[in-house]
Amino acid sequence: MGKKPRRVGILTAGGDAPGLNAVIRGFGKTIINHYGMELIGFNDGITGLVEKRYVNLDGKALSGILTRGGTILGTSRDKVNRYTVGSTTKNMVPVVKENLDELGVDALVLLGGGGTAKNAKQLMDAGINVILLPKTIDNDIWGTDTSFGFATAMEVATEAIDRLHSTAHSHHRIILTEIMGHRAGWLCLGAGIAGGADIILLPEIPYSVESITATIKKRISHGSTFSVVAIAEGARDTVDTANTQAALDLVNSAPEGDARRAAKAHLAAVEDSQREHTFKLARELEASTGLESRVSILGYIQRGGTPVSEDRLLGTRLGSATADHVVRGEFGILVAARGQGTEPVPLDDVAGKLKLVPTNHHWIETARKIGTGLGD
Ligand code: F6P
Repeated sequence: MGKKPRRVGILTAGGDAPGLNAVIRGFGKTIINHYGMELIGFNDGITGLVEKRYVNLDGKALSGILTRGGTILGTSRDKVNRYTVGSTTKNMVPVVKENLDELGVDALVLLGGGGTAKNAKQLMDAGINVILLPKTIDNDIWGTDTSFGFATAMEVATEAIDRLHSTAHSHHRIILTEIMGHRAGWLCLGAGIAGGADIILLPEIPYSVESITATIKKRISHGSTFSVVAIAEGARDTVDTANTQAALDLVNSAPEGDARRAAKAHLAAVEDSQREHTFKLARELEASTGLESRVSILGYIQRGGTPVSEDRLLGTRLGSATADHVVRGEFGILVAARGQGTEPVPLDDVAGKLKLVPTNHHWIETARKIGTGLGD
């Protein structure tokens, strides 16, 4: 980019996460007050970009948002290259490029996760100056130490596990609490350790009812007539894991066209049949241990409310550092959290990748050493 950006656009996309407004504020205050540029915020993610729906972000608009949950701009999960309008799906990248040119927007900052990284790459490949910021409670974004939203969600999930201990030991029950994280186990593993869960089940480690039962029976033999199980929403037993992998292999080996569509429909049906996996496990454990079992699905509570200080600090740091990259004309990057600083990572290295928990990760070794059952 030759000329210095005059006007910058920002948007939030994908699932909401605590800290989004801290990033908007950190970026906005730096780009407006420190660098003297204009800032507009597109509403509802990619949709607002396509429909040219936006708000002017000035000092007043940025005031009082640091502690607010969610996103003042709204969000969506729309895909810019497969954008649905009524019953048709179109590639809207050219429309977005035209809209940004018309609005005089020289650079676009996207706050999002894996799906938004793919959107950002599509826009980058069309010549648009983009920068991605790592947003998700799942912490599954490649290339960054962590993402904003993760610390707050861990706080919420940890407190929930603390509270669920009360009913577990009072009723001598097995309490299974399902924790978000999509296909990664970071949130479940972190909150499970912090909350003292007796068993932690992750997508990265397929579990067996036999192993979980043995852990619970061992606890009973030591006098603990209750157990708290932290189970990731993406965790599956060894049979379901094998069935999903087989269906995935079919999709990957099927030729484009009807065969691929049929394979994808089969994969969707297999995954749909596994949605109630936590309730299924609860029934199995009740039968195998003789203890009553109950389930608590934490769901969207983990994404709500005011961000904890760690996410406010991280969000402000990432946002402010992003303004520096905009001014220096450095685009096509993810501004990653690295230690106590930040680091630009090429978007090409990030898009389409997922950061899963390595099965030899320190946190997993710690859990095993303190006697937590991991279902294997
Ligand atoms: O990516 C964040 C997340 O909360 C995941 O943990 C969860 O699986 C997903 O979003 C839920 O998506 P939605 O908000 O579209 O229901």
